[in-house]
Amino acid sequence: MNYKAALQNPVFKIISQASKNLHLDSYVIGGFVRDYILERGDAKDIDVVAIGSGIELAREVSKLLPNKPKVQVFKTYGTAMLRYNDVEVEFVGARKESYNEHSRNPIVENGTLQDDQNRRDFTINALALSLSESNFGDLLDPFDGVADLERKIIKTPLNPDITYSDDPLRMMRAIRFATQLDFIIEEQSLNAITRNSDRIKIITKERINVELNKILESSKPSKGFLLLEKTGLLKHFLPELTNLKGIDEVEGQTHKDNFYHTLEVVDNISKNTNDVWLRWAALLHDIGKAPTKRFSKKVGWTFHGHEFEGSKMVYHLFKRLKMPLNDKMKFVQKMVFMSSRPIVLAEDLVTDSAVRRLVFDAGDYVEDLMTLCEADITTKNPKRFDKYHNNFKIVRDKIIEVEEKDHVRNFQPPVSGEEIMKTFNLKPSKEIGIIKEAIKEAILEGEIPNEYTAAFNLMIKKGEALGLIKSE
Ligand code: CTP
Repeated sequence: MNYKAALQNPVFKIISQASKNLHLDSYVIGGFVRDYILERGDAKDIDVVAIGSGIELAREVSKLLPNKPKVQVFKTYGTAMLRYNDVEVEFVGARKESYNEHSRNPIVENGTLQDDQNRRDFTINALALSLSESNFGDLLDPFDGVADLERKIIKTPLNPDITYSDDPLRMMRAIRFATQLDFIIEEQSLNAITRNSDRIKIITKERINVELNKILESSKPSKGFLLLEKTGLLKHFLPELTNLKGIDEVEGQTHKDNFYHTLEVVDNISKNTNDVWLRWAALLHDIGKAPTKRFSKKVGWTFHGHEFEGSKMVYHLFKRLKMPLNDKMKFVQKMVFMSSRPIVLAEDLVTDSAVRRLVFDAGDYVEDLMTLCEADITTKNPKRFDKYHNNFKIVRDKIIEVEEKDHVRNFQPPVSGEEIMKTFNLKPSKEIGIIKEAIKEAILEGEIPNEYTAAFNLMIKKGEALGLIKSE
């Protein structure tokens, strides 16, 4: 089979020429070829394998390119990288490598194309297109990767125990590709993942995160998380989630399985947002339920304070996984902390003041919070489902209405502390806080509009009540 059409970017002809100059063969390999055949759009990352030195080939390619791009060399890995227009090309020499049991440091020897393909992760990632002049565009597919693309199968080129022990991260990559592409992991491979799952411990958190995020960014993340759980991988990096699994029963009373519920919420939200942090919030919104679960004869199962507990757990989880401890984390914490607020609203009559308080507390996150809470509706009772969704629609309309009227989002008190001090000739004291709180409460309750004059008048009234001025 010839795939010249995949190699239209002029950079390929230049790599071909450079290979000829150095008397070596070279191939495009991996994701670029896979994604071309899958018609996933033009890949911007191109991996080139040289039967010889990848670094030398990169330098020769740079010489031939009109803008002579800088070659970045990674000596430890024997790779080199350059950018040309909008593509990034990575060069590596074909390797015959094996790994030490306890570390990621490979023992590398030069090899043939076939040696290199043997050591790749999956048959669908071992596809190579020749860049040599004589057979430019020819497909080299020793493991029937194209057939696996058609059959939608993830399979390792060698015995899966060897492929996964070469790099245990590949167990997660298998699950990630299965999720992204909606493929099936071949049975032997899946069994090997279960057998080798403990070896994920030697992989850095950073590499695990890359795969986790890709699973979460897929259109149906539950597929990946179910596989991670089933193979025993998930408990190694997200025990908070596996702890949600299971249904307890006491005196005939049960609660829902919060693990499966969580995955439903994640799938729901993925239909409405591509924001990975909001998806993280969905994934973690119930993690506080495991440590707060109680049973009482009177009310059955409860999870009191799980939102607060969960938001604290978010910090520890992010820290452990070496995820950023920045505004993104705070956002996830806030979403988890507030995740039950709108549903309480939606259960009863939706009042203006309740919506105003929601906007006040959630600030700019209020729309994201609504998106999370809508995704959280997983009831199988169609009447309840409709009722919650209708009430959420009312809440969304009221958010707009209340916003136009009262501007309580990112609330700024209409009367400042300084003005209160000046009016009543006060030094900093607790009376100022009392008056400010009274004004804020009156606005949120809808007793006064969020305006200066109304707030000023209330301030005077409160001042009188506190005995700060004598009324005439
Ligand atoms: N590869 C491998 N084992 C790994 C990582 C990568 O064998 N643990 C090989 C595969 O042949 C893969 C290629 O290196 O196709 C490039 O890896 P990478 O850029 O990480 O992945 P892609 O396959 O290009 O896919 P994506 O861009 O979606 O990550």
